[in-house]
Amino acid sequence: MEVTLNVALLLLSAAVCLMVFTGKRRRRLPNPPGPFPLPLIGNLNLVSPRLHHTFHMLAQRYGPIMKFRLGSIPCLVVSTPELAKDILKTHELIFSSRVKSTAIDIVTYGVSFAFSPYGPYWKYIKKLCTYELLGSRMLNHFEPLRALEVREFLKDVMAMGKAGKSFNVTEELMKLTSNVMSNMMLSIRAAESEEQAEVARTLIREVSQLFGEFDFGDMLWFCKSFDFQGIKKRSKDIKVRYDALLEKILTDRENVRRQNGVVEPKDMLDMFLDIMEGGKTDVEFTREHLKAVILDFLTAGTDTTAITVEWVLAELMNSPKAMKKAQDEMDRVVGRERMMAESDAPNLPYFLAIIKETFRLHPPIPLIIRRSIEDCVIDGYHIPADTLAFINVWSMGRNEKYWDSPLSFRPERFLEGDNAAIDIKGMHFELLPFGSGRRGCPGMLSAIQEVLIIAGTVIQCFDWEQADGSGRVDMSERPGLTTPREIDLVCRVVPRVDERVISGH
Ligand code: HEM
Repeated sequence: MEVTLNVALLLLSAAVCLMVFTGKRRRRLPNPPGPFPLPLIGNLNLVSPRLHHTFHMLAQRYGPIMKFRLGSIPCLVVSTPELAKDILKTHELIFSSRVKSTAIDIVTYGVSFAFSPYGPYWKYIKKLCTYELLGSRMLNHFEPLRALEVREFLKDVMAMGKAGKSFNVTEELMKLTSNVMSNMMLSIRAAESEEQAEVARTLIREVSQLFGEFDFGDMLWFCKSFDFQGIKKRSKDIKVRYDALLEKILTDRENVRRQNGVVEPKDMLDMFLDIMEGGKTDVEFTREHLKAVILDFLTAGTDTTAITVEWVLAELMNSPKAMKKAQDEMDRVVGRERMMAESDAPNLPYFLAIIKETFRLHPPIPLIIRRSIEDCVIDGYHIPADTLAFINVWSMGRNEKYWDSPLSFRPERFLEGDNAAIDIKGMHFELLPFGSGRRGCPGMLSAIQEVLIIAGTVIQCFDWEQADGSGRVDMSERPGLTTPREIDLVCRVVPRVDERVISGH
């Protein structure tokens, strides 16, 4: 008895010593440098509508690791590949959660996958994404569907070209990527049900915009119960409309399944319904979870892809030499007698370099945002739990320490020397358009295929010029947490291939 007591006392005093010792060590560690926070608002006075630009500029003054305060939220901002690796790889588990805004909570029934903490629910859906929904088998399964939607889009562009009419490329690309996602997820085909597709497109656009806005109620405790910006009201309105759309789609599908049975799932909705009806989920997965995860995919996968293709086109229109080189390569490898296919991409090194160069200068999600769940040390600085970490991917792509003439669009850089080995899949921390690690983008493979087929065919099939005849495409970005071009791209095209190449007969 006495021995047990002595051992317990010994362990207790050892634990106390350890706590005192590590506590002292922690306390001695400095905080990262950063602008002085004002009472209540922190550094909100410094924030501009393009947060990645703000952080880029502040990093010139305070360095690549910086503390910042968004109202009452402590933040850490990093802008080098080494520090990105520290957060996304070395301390991956600590930084594998995200933060949810009130808008996200309202619209996604409080159970979003993309914004959920790192836990059993997230792990379950992630496993489904990797092995079922977005894995390589489904990538092949959906290839004809992507090709079909792209063909419809190219037919419209061809018609415009033949009529000598200009058209809004920004809008058409958004329509196309939204059609691809709605078709993959829910089998909504714009060509068959334009009305439903239009409702879905509007909702996706509104949700993406809403999630990119700052709600001061989330950052300033004294604004929490107010809705000065009308964000909560808009969120509730969007939620009602989204719920009505999804309930109709779900009920229709359930009826069809009851009548016909399902032999093989045709889209992601079927796969989810199979899982739900099978009742063998590892975690609770209700109708609300289903609706939330569909919304996650639709919003995460639509404008990101459209934004990328638009930047590819804008950069190439401003670099006629690069455009010519890409078209020459297409002519050599694919020719003009058939439409480029996804399987051609590995044989088009210059085209692939264009895609990387575009992601370097214009990552559609310029800031990777994570939340720490416990205290840690990054680069010798103490980072407390519940810090919001921003990895400034946009800034890293423009850092001359890592890239020669970083502001020039020069795809050749990815065909030369060490850069030739750099890819976009999250292993090279200087180029992270899809993030990295277990919380990296689960739609990456699907998105890459979609970007390749859309960008590839528009380069192959048409010559592009701005409708107003002005020489240079404006390259400014619209405010928000994604990076679309600010001014819609309105173009005229001249076909480079015969109409039948696109129509397929
Ligand atoms: C060019 C297109 C795309 C880009 C650039 C992109 C980029 C990203 C990035 C940077 C993240 C955060 C990664 C991180 O924290 O490390 C992310 C997350 C996510 N993306 Fe994508 N994405 C694209 C397309 C897609 C598509 C097509 C889908 C779905 C089919 C999708 C679904 C998601 C989801 C669900 C998340 C949240 C994952 C999680 O929190 O675990 N994305 N994406």
